[in-house]
Amino acid sequence: MAFAPRNVFITGGAGFIGANFVRHWLARPGEGRVVVFDALTYAGNLDNLAGLDRDPRYLFVKGDICDEAAVRALLEQQRIDTVVHFAAESHVDRSILGPDDFIRTNIVGTHSLLKAAKALWVDKKTVPDHRFHHVSTDEVYGSLRPDDAPFQERSPYAPNSPYSASKASSDHLVRAYHETYGLDTTVTNCSNNYGPYQFPEKLIPLTIVNILLGKPLPVYGDGMQVRDWLHVEDHCRAITLALNRGKPGEVYNIGGNSETSNIEVVRTLCALVDETVGARPDLRAAFSASPAVRGARAADLITHVRDRLGHDRRYAIDYSKAEHDLGYAPGRDLAEGLRATIDWYLTNTRWWLALLGRDYAEWLAKNYSR
Ligand code: NAD
Ligand code: TYD
Repeated sequence: MAFAPRNVFITGGAGFIGANFVRHWLARPGEGRVVVFDALTYAGNLDNLAGLDRDPRYLFVKGDICDEAAVRALLEQQRIDTVVHFAAESHVDRSILGPDDFIRTNIVGTHSLLKAAKALWVDKKTVPDHRFHHVSTDEVYGSLRPDDAPFQERSPYAPNSPYSASKASSDHLVRAYHETYGLDTTVTNCSNNYGPYQFPEKLIPLTIVNILLGKPLPVYGDGMQVRDWLHVEDHCRAITLALNRGKPGEVYNIGGNSETSNIEVVRTLCALVDETVGARPDLRAAFSASPAVRGARAADLITHVRDRLGHDRRYAIDYSKAEHDLGYAPGRDLAEGLRATIDWYLTNTRWWLALLGRDYAEWLAKNYSR
């Protein structure tokens, strides 16, 4: 029977995917309440949730998922029956520089949430029906060679970075809480997301922003690493399907059917941004350092830099289980999704300039009056 969440606790809802999910959820009039729980780290941003506080179904609470007592009290007070768990440290490069936060949030934090949910839902039976949905990544499966078959749910775990190892660990804990204690869990392991509200440290937003500002576009190593890009709206739809139709204890791989090398993604963004900036006088005035303004090519900004340590060569996802069991299929192809994403970053300049810090405040005042 389909599961119908009533009161949903969304961890990490002020981050990139979490905020898109909150918006996706509240855009559906029939859906119940959401309590967004987020520590507002560098990646969490209340601007991502702007305007939602007008909806009576929305509540934001600042807090740390490692604080089990606070989580448990909120789950009880708010009569939560569903957790959708996004909160994490999510950037591979940061995990290489300093793994500690990843171990704390991704492993200890996930365990703290599981303990709180079990204490209420399994031990005290505070709600008639419940669901703990864990949002994970395809990176737990490691790296594929060019001719390997895409990752399936049964592929062995072989994480290569501190980030993916911490996510793998959290996946195992979720599984154990289902198998051992009977917590109703579902897990989605998805490929690289892109779209609105993505922090400009990840490849796609970083590239767009740097082209607009005329800064170098760092490509790690030869740029031939392959990712299966998934538009964040497709991911949000997949999570909703997993909540409604997924079977407790099951894992679903979610992909975008868009395997593409990094260098190809960067070159495509260069061409699309050149075309858009070149055609619009308002953008030429605002982004005077962007190469298209002086008739040059953004691709000339591409700079091959030292490769990431332990860099996974290829990820690819077989989402046939989600297709068969949940009715999931990606809706956006990559070219269309990249165009829409560029449009979003061009329309929401203030959002990303604010993140880049005070250096740009002056630039903003001088160059961008919208
Ligand atoms: P993000 O870094 O943009 O956001 C993470 C959010 O979690 C932020 O709002 C941050 O403030 C919050 N957070 C961090 N530590 C916290 C803590 N201790 N307590 C409470 N909140 C905390 O991440 P994202 O890209 O939106 O990713 C969301 C989830 O999806 C993560 O679990 C990530 O592993 C997974 N995922 C991401 C991608 C991707 O391409 N971005 C792909 C697959 C899976
Ligand atoms: P990223 O967006 O960091 O996601 P992930 O590491 O989770 O896949 O990186 C995507 C790919 O792009 C990855 O192969 C690393 C590469 N990359 C670059 O080449 N240059 C960059 O500046 C960044 C941030 C990433």
